Amino acid sequence: MRDFLTFQAMKENKFEFNYKVFESIDELPEDLRFLLNEARQVTENAYAPYSNFQVGAVGRLVNGEIVSGSNQENASFPVGLCAERVLLATASSLFPKIPIRTMAVSYKSENVKSDHPISPCGICRQTLQEYEERVEHPMQLILGGMTGPVYVIDSASRLLPLAFTSEELR
Ligand code: THU
Repeated sequence: MRDFLTFQAMKENKFEFNYKVFESIDELPEDLRFLLNEARQVTENAYAPYSNFQVGAVGRLVNGEIVSGSNQENASFPVGLCAERVLLATASSLFPKIPIRTMAVSYKSENVKSDHPISPCGICRQTLQEYEERVEHPMQLILGGMTGPVYVIDSASRLLPLAFTSEELR
């Protein structure tokens, strides 16, 4: 009997993507450093009394406008919104036709160290993918904690391989 591990597929595909790793915020180019610093500050605006995990997201639009978001929780837990989606909704409402060029995300917490990057959750990845598709522009991501290394990803959609997209409904 052939077991799963030895089974020879007709064809095997591979997904991979490159992203940049900076040792700290100090290594970043000035414009990206500015955005990550803003994201760190915006964690203060989070409403996260249940998780005590405060996330800040700041985006720079292609026209130079800066928009921010932070996570907003609720006693009914699934109602809560991540910082990334609050930012996307805010930017889309204020500047519906203007793509976000770059988004920085940071976090802080009483419970865990903020010394490494976090990356967007699954629902946010799906939302980011469709945002990029809609505005027809890649969104660069800057991910970093309050200290530690920083990841720079050239397009948010890279985080969602084999995505289910609006294409499927046409
Ligand atoms: N959260 C975000 O806002 N962004 C992320 O990338 C990960 C998680 C929020 C959701 C929830 O309010 C808290 O962080 C803990 O999961």
